Amino acid sequence: MFYNHPNIVNAYHHPIHDQTLISIPEYHQIIIEENEDVKLIEKRDFFNGIQRNRDFNRFDNDNNRRQFFDKNFDNDDDDDERINRFENNDGKKIITTGQCRTNDGFMGVCWPIGLCHYQYGNVRYSSKQSCRTLVNGKNVQGVCCPLDVDYTPNSRDRIPYRLTKPRLPRESIRITRNEFLRAIQQADADITRYLVLEEKFTGELGQVQIAFTPAFFLQMMFGPADQNQQLTNLWGFRALQLTRALGENLNLSPKQLRDGLSSISMYGTPYEQYCLKIPDCDERYPYRTIDGSCNNIRNPLWGKSLTQFERLLPPEYSDGISELRISINGRPLPPPRAISTGVFETSGQNDARFSDRWNVMFMQWGQFLDHDITLGSSTRASNGQGLLCCNRTNEQGPLLHPACRPIYLPVDDPYYSRFNRHCNNFVRNAVGPKNSCNLGYREQTNTVTSFIDASMIYGNDFNRSRLVRSFRNGHLKIRKINNNEWLPFDTMNNSLACAIRNRQGNNRCVFAGDVRVNQQFGITSLQLLFLREHNRLAKQLAKLNSAWDDEIIYQEARKIVSAEMQHITYNEFLPEALGRNVIRHYGLSLQPNGHCLAYDRDLNPSILNEFGAAAFRWHTLVQKYYHMINGNNHIQQRYEMNRIFNNPTFLYPNGSLDQAIRGILKQPTERFDRIFTEDIKNLLFAQQTRTNNNQRVGMDLISINIQRGRDHGIPTYNQIRQLCGLQLIRNFQQLRSLLRNQDDWQRLSQIYSHVDDIDFWVAGNLEQPLQEGILGPTFSCIVGEQFRRLKYGDRYWYENGQMQHSFTIEQLTELRKITLARIICDNSDRIHRIQPLAMVTISKQLSLNPELDCSSIPRIDLKPWKINVNGRNRGGGGGGGRNSNSKAIDRKIQRNQSNRQKNQNRRFNGQLRTITKYDYNDDDRKIFIRPKFRQQFYNNHHYHHQQQQQQQTNIPYPFNSIF
Ligand code: HEM
Repeated sequence: MFYNHPNIVNAYHHPIHDQTLISIPEYHQIIIEENEDVKLIEKRDFFNGIQRNRDFNRFDNDNNRRQFFDKNFDNDDDDDERINRFENNDGKKIITTGQCRTNDGFMGVCWPIGLCHYQYGNVRYSSKQSCRTLVNGKNVQGVCCPLDVDYTPNSRDRIPYRLTKPRLPRESIRITRNEFLRAIQQADADITRYLVLEEKFTGELGQVQIAFTPAFFLQMMFGPADQNQQLTNLWGFRALQLTRALGENLNLSPKQLRDGLSSISMYGTPYEQYCLKIPDCDERYPYRTIDGSCNNIRNPLWGKSLTQFERLLPPEYSDGISELRISINGRPLPPPRAISTGVFETSGQNDARFSDRWNVMFMQWGQFLDHDITLGSSTRASNGQGLLCCNRTNEQGPLLHPACRPIYLPVDDPYYSRFNRHCNNFVRNAVGPKNSCNLGYREQTNTVTSFIDASMIYGNDFNRSRLVRSFRNGHLKIRKINNNEWLPFDTMNNSLACAIRNRQGNNRCVFAGDVRVNQQFGITSLQLLFLREHNRLAKQLAKLNSAWDDEIIYQEARKIVSAEMQHITYNEFLPEALGRNVIRHYGLSLQPNGHCLAYDRDLNPSILNEFGAAAFRWHTLVQKYYHMINGNNHIQQRYEMNRIFNNPTFLYPNGSLDQAIRGILKQPTERFDRIFTEDIKNLLFAQQTRTNNNQRVGMDLISINIQRGRDHGIPTYNQIRQLCGLQLIRNFQQLRSLLRNQDDWQRLSQIYSHVDDIDFWVAGNLEQPLQEGILGPTFSCIVGEQFRRLKYGDRYWYENGQMQHSFTIEQLTELRKITLARIICDNSDRIHRIQPLAMVTISKQLSLNPELDCSSIPRIDLKPWKINVNGRNRGGGGGGGRNSNSKAIDRKIQRNQSNRQKNQNRRFNGQLRTITKYDYNDDDRKIFIRPKFRQQFYNNHHYHHQQQQQQQTNIPYPFNSIF
């Protein structure tokens, strides 16, 4: 009706404007019924205004723009800030346009600041003027949100790069069947030798990690030993050994090895058994699988946990397939620690430089998001133990495990020399099998799902996902501490990265979907807030739909939480981090309304190696302290990061969680620059030494990042510049104008022998940032591309329409109101006031982001999730419509009921047999339709699994620490 009305159809041929008007949220609802001519005329005026506004925005000069505006629009201040209401005869329906003018002269609509998503950057620069709008029925302050999303940057603002599609080098190599079989024999023999050698290292030589040392915590950050992971690593290792054997036998050059063998498949050979298994998919299944498989129906492994990181460019290994890169002049590259101390500065107590815009929450969201989408897989001994690469006196050992690439520390190291320490542990990430099952260079495995799907809350594999669920009313497990809901305790000691020695009573670490949950306050707090958010939603959904069982409530709440993660990331985080132009360039703007129909099934959403091992490692933002701020805004206490690593117990006392969150919201974050806090530079996972006056010593995350980049074969800074269409750097002086700090080129030139050697992560951190956002062009190029893939390559992207699982328009309208501020209001213990942009410090001068009462922060209404007796969603706004998802849920309820009947006579043995088939398959679909035995199965499986985990993780680590 509205869409086809003859009076207005011409007014909104522009798709964005079309949508702007249809789905302005509740407090700006524009509901036009047929035969309401008066309102349509008003409406047409409004559309015409937009049309004029669009013409007006074409001006490239602010003065011309202003003149045009003054001529065409009523320049009365009252009008600028008015809220126009047009009421129906029955007085119920309200048309509110809230037209206003932005500070730089654009036409806009008055919205709450947190919801002005698609023009977020504009608000930052152009909405000094505030206006009034309605939130939760209250008349509150809003900002003038520009209507025109089709903002064309002028040439000064335009981003300076263009990501090119590289033509990948190819080499053609012929291999006979006999040559292949001979190489297999050789690879088998190599692997047997490797395993024997490894036994020697871990047994006789005792080269295994010592519990409670910084190196131990670092390796345990990658999670407990997991059978599946170990198996996958072994498969990848086999393929690499086979590639190596072929290279030796055929006398291939590094280039031939890299570019020739990668196209040769192992299918149809005896090594086919080591290929990743392709799962069967059901396209109609309405929920994401836990492990991310089957998101892309034609490529079910894309984005799945335990599959390879994707690459934009082929890797740079010195032997073509595996060994760490060397200089282009054939000599070793500068040692990572030399770069860390020579190029980057360390900030101690007072000398950090803080951002004047972003708070610690900005950094914290980045890390939380990182834990949703990326985690490498560390090499372990085949019995699961961590590997020790430096000997026990922190010297380089006489013999090295093949996966060791220790970071050597110079004798005159400004920090470690005090402790007479010459070696920091570094274990290579494991070799991962290729999705394609081809031979070729070393790939690494992402152990978590690539999608923004809140997997750090729900887990990335079948087993962990069951461990976090309570299986009652769709809830996740909780633990009550001081009468507050908390994350469950890690009673099975799964989180080996837990710094509590004497674990009993409440003195324990917590357990969550992601293994890094205990790392520090900020991450634990966000994990807890989202766990509570899940349970809050589950409670409401159950109230609305009494027919839903545990499984449906769990899945529906999980679906909403995933959508919230996506919305907050693209609405609040990315525009701040990347700026308007990059957002626009990669199409990362969210739609103000309507469904998005841009899913691209040919786009691989997997995490790019260049992103996870370099461009998204924003550790420069990390600050030294967590401030605990009480309700009167006083800093009650501050904790040094290095003292609270892997120990969440400081958050357990009553009120501490709120204090920590207030601190995170109020404290500015460190700037994105070459200065790193000593807490991650020298004191990462620090422990007290027994010698040296009990001083604390830890690892250096800067050198770890550099070494990790080389471990993953990440191409150099210049190579990535070329990929991004940026000018190649020919000499060090050319870097001068590109770096934030002009002296950095000299620092780089003193350390690297050639510009073509510079590590991507190193120069990416030093680049002059673009006009908006925090990153320089090269990091922006990779990060933007990654988030494009995560949006358009995700079949379950929350805005996607016309799919079985799509949210209805009414549901989407509600989801678009979600902000991180609201999540905090709803799920903290007693925080009642907050700034609407939770990642931006409270701004007093512009009164753009003032601290408000929680009642002024928009909240989502779950009514559109109610399915009435006829199976209809009760939609708000434009009238309820039944979407394919609600039909799917109906079908499932029916199926559950009929299955219940069928299962009544079935014997338990048979049941168990059919289900255990899926133990490691994570096939939610099959489990889903057996409600009666589901709980039984989970109980059994859970119990069995607990025992299994116990066996795996109770590996005896030597405790004779030198610390
Ligand atoms: C609060 C402080 C933080 C600490 C203590 C921390 C610590 C670590 C550690 C120990 C690693 C493993 C390094 C390795 O062995 O390769 C890591 C990896 C990583 N970190 Fe952080 N981090 C912090 C914050 C952040 C932030 C703010 C971001 C981004 C916005 C970030 C992004 C990443 C990424 C992308 C990885 C790679 C994960 C993987 O694929 O394995 N981290 N971090």
